[in-house]
Amino acid sequence: MKKTLPSLARVSTLVFAMTTGFAHAGEVEVLHWWTSGGEAKAAMALKATLQAKGHVWKDFAVAGGGGDAAMTVLKSRVVSGNAPAAAQIKGPSLQDWAHEGVLASIDDVAKAGHWDELLPKVVSDGMKYKGSYIAVPVNVHRVNWLWANPEVFRKAGAKLPTTWDEFFVAAEALRKAGFVAFAHGGQNWQDMTVFEAVAIGVGGPDFYRKALVQLDQATLKSALMEQVLATFKRIKPYTDRNSPGRDWNLSTAMVIRGEAGMQIMGDWAKGEFVAAGKVAGKDFICTPAPGTAKAFTFNVDSFAMFKLKSEANVKAQKDLASAVMSPEFQEVFSLNKGSIPVRLNMKMDKFDDCAKASAKDFVDTARAGTLMPSIAHGMAVPAAAEGAIKDAVSQFWNTDKMSPKDAATKIAAAARTQ
Ligand code: BGC
Repeated sequence: MKKTLPSLARVSTLVFAMTTGFAHAGEVEVLHWWTSGGEAKAAMALKATLQAKGHVWKDFAVAGGGGDAAMTVLKSRVVSGNAPAAAQIKGPSLQDWAHEGVLASIDDVAKAGHWDELLPKVVSDGMKYKGSYIAVPVNVHRVNWLWANPEVFRKAGAKLPTTWDEFFVAAEALRKAGFVAFAHGGQNWQDMTVFEAVAIGVGGPDFYRKALVQLDQATLKSALMEQVLATFKRIKPYTDRNSPGRDWNLSTAMVIRGEAGMQIMGDWAKGEFVAAGKVAGKDFICTPAPGTAKAFTFNVDSFAMFKLKSEANVKAQKDLASAVMSPEFQEVFSLNKGSIPVRLNMKMDKFDDCAKASAKDFVDTARAGTLMPSIAHGMAVPAAAEGAIKDAVSQFWNTDKMSPKDAATKIAAAARTQ
């Protein structure tokens, strides 16, 4: 009996195989840096989507906001011939990786899914190398947000700032009332996230584009750049002693707990508020960073697909790509992540007012010419120049005696890095 009858476990495996295509199950190793509360929930949605297709998810999470640590690990894995199936790579870096010849075309998936029609052109262009899709976009984050705790503002008698002048009035009131006015984590990508918001708020969208997208030397060394830098540095006294090196989500937690009044951060911060059970417009406020209401700095998360040998794994990789673009996934992922879907014409009824505003502003700013790539988040310039500029900006933030003029000179030199 024992020998002729298949065990119950085997029968159920067989049934599972027949219903899910398990016979062709593949494994997808996915490199990402989504390790905070909200991020991890969003990553789990991705894992569940893949598993529902009968494939195996191999998590390759490298902690570190902004992804610099993840990119370092990715390089060593690819160099040693052991690339993951998919990696969170964004912006111009996608082109660099494709140029190395290590990325796979997923044109068949994109064609079958009509991606060209479903994506804004500014996004689909970036996902292609020599006309072929080598990556799938996941979502759109808006970077130029200010997050505030309304209760803290009320207690301090402070008003939500819409300009940089108002920002300093509010910061002063928050500080006097005993709060940390500005929750900030001193890491170079976070410094840069604040800096690019100041660049638009003080310098204006044209200045931002010329200085931090086109890396125009004259603009980088201009008097306006010095004014931007001076304003940026004025924020520092409103941060707390433990700010240096702190992770971004811990700063968000200070705003959530009512220890701090505000934070400037992309809308992945909203994922933290939501994961903590907080409600937009009631427990926390989202408002464009001062002076940037008419601009939108975008940050599109995307997964690049690496060349693989195993056919089953290629199938799983393609299933992942197609699932990422499905309306169901686009919705559930962004609800957790704080972003908005990248797929056009999605219903937004399940989203909060922050996401609805973001979706509207994405379209409006694209029309007005003020939809701009975020330099802090790998969207605007090649990685080498971005890294050097981020370091120069942080050096200025951390060096009390450095003048805005010297900083501008350093940043302009950094922009030449190749
Ligand atoms: C990524 C986000 C991520 C954030 C913090 C950004 O560069 O695009 O997906 O949540 O970094 O780690």
